[in-house]
Amino acid sequence: MSGADLFGGTLEPVRKEEPLGDGALLLRGFALADEVALLAALDAILTRAPWRHMVTPGGQRMSVAMTNAGQLGWLSDRRGYRYEPNDPQTGQAWPAMPPTFQWLAAAAATRAGFAGFAPDACLVNRYEAGTRLSLHQDRDECDFNQPIVSVSLGIPAVFLFGGLHRTDRPQRVPLVHGDVVVWGGPARLRYHGVLPVKSAHHPVLGDCRINLTLRRAG
Ligand code: SIN
Ligand code: FE2
Repeated sequence: MSGADLFGGTLEPVRKEEPLGDGALLLRGFALADEVALLAALDAILTRAPWRHMVTPGGQRMSVAMTNAGQLGWLSDRRGYRYEPNDPQTGQAWPAMPPTFQWLAAAAATRAGFAGFAPDACLVNRYEAGTRLSLHQDRDECDFNQPIVSVSLGIPAVFLFGGLHRTDRPQRVPLVHGDVVVWGGPARLRYHGVLPVKSAHHPVLGDCRINLTLRRAG
């Protein structure tokens, strides 16, 4: 029996793996099977640690709204970028990392060749139409041997995936609901960002894109 036509074509495109260079892999639709559990866990995080717009060390309000889950949460304020165990807004620990997030991140990392990934930090980003994230490296973590796992939910976006130097011309990678990108090893410090998100509507998440970035920070 063939699996054709279950998803309006063949089964293949839904879970296709696309290499993005040495140490980097795009897993199309990898999060779709866990969509309901992921969104329920996200709701629970948001009741305890609501969206907020952080301020850059230079004093600019970031257009991406953020929150965190896990033992450590990523922060930006006038004092710089860093990870902290507590939400400065409530003084309480960040909400625990949902097991679904951990499991998904570990499974995606394993597919990309990074077995044993155990994230302790999940940065949650919300992009509205027009919101962008400028090119940057993720370098506030202690151990660059640990990969990054990034889960896209909601409306589409174009992920910019550059090289190890800011001036390297980035690849433009369209990401949709359920796609997961993993980068580690030789790709761990590649510059990346998000082009201004185009106005769109997602049946479940509405007019925004939500990205989960899972990391081993401590
Ligand atoms: C990030 O670099 O923190 C997020 C990337 C994304 O939203 O895809
Ligand atoms: Fe990043």
